[in-house]
Amino acid sequence: MSAAAGSGVLMDRIYRHQRHIYDFTRKYYLLGRDRLIERLDPPPGGAVLEIGCGTGRNLIRAARMHEGVRFFGIDISSEMLETARAKIARAGLSGRIAVAQADAAAFDPEKLFKISAFDRVFLSYTLSMIPPWRQAIDMAFRCLDEDGRLSIVDFGQQERLPRIFCSALLAWLASFHVEPRAELHHVLKNAGARAGAGVSFTPLYRGYAWTAEAGFQAKANCQRVSIASTAEA
Ligand SMILES: C[S@@+](CC[C@H](N)C(=O)[O-])C[C@H]1O[C@@H](n2cnc3c(N)ncnc32)[C@H](O)[C@@H]1O
Repeated sequence: MSAAAGSGVLMDRIYRHQRHIYDFTRKYYLLGRDRLIERLDPPPGGAVLEIGCGTGRNLIRAARMHEGVRFFGIDISSEMLETARAKIARAGLSGRIAVAQADAAAFDPEKLFKISAFDRVFLSYTLSMIPPWRQAIDMAFRCLDEDGRLSIVDFGQQERLPRIFCSALLAWLASFHVEPRAELHHVLKNAGARAGAGVSFTPLYRGYAWTAEAGFQAKANCQRVSIASTAEA
């Protein structure tokens, strides 16, 4: 079995039952998702891609906020996609949101959606579950339009929270195959440099979550900062 097929099987196993309570339970600890959606600011008539869209919760919320914009999502789990499709249909948004099964580390948006570049691409609490997460970041840059923007939110390193909380959280996340990426800032900065994009990086809630934005147009405005010197949002 390929690594991607193995990941699909694992994600289906994790989410087969979880998907039914996912949105209700995750709202208490996947923090920073709504902040990311509010800041998306896609252009009118634009196209937005979520990589690792899960139940479609973010896509639905973003589509309601940004009328006239088309939304796309990929996920490796067919179980999650089943829930996403049902929720999108119930929300009456099937005409504006399309989802497909694919691996974040290697997919062809042209084949999946007949669209080669997006105005906005985002990953929300997904990189921490993807073993080849560095490739997923490179793929995300490849899908961006020339004035597009990439947004990321995920678990941080809990750097300004009590050590005991941090150890307990990391152990609990590991039981769900979630591994917060300590090197996220460094890897994103290097991937951005290779792609010719500027990167801004902001810890949230004392490092509980990390969020980043990278873009070609925003290059001049994006600060290159270290985690230690970054002010919290
Ligand atoms: C914690 S959930 C986040 C879902 C959604 N983005 C959110 O913010 O609620 C992680 C999602 O990433 C998906 N995922 C994991 N590995 C993936 C991969 N290699 N390619 C695409 N999706 C993947 C999982 O199936 C799951 O739906």
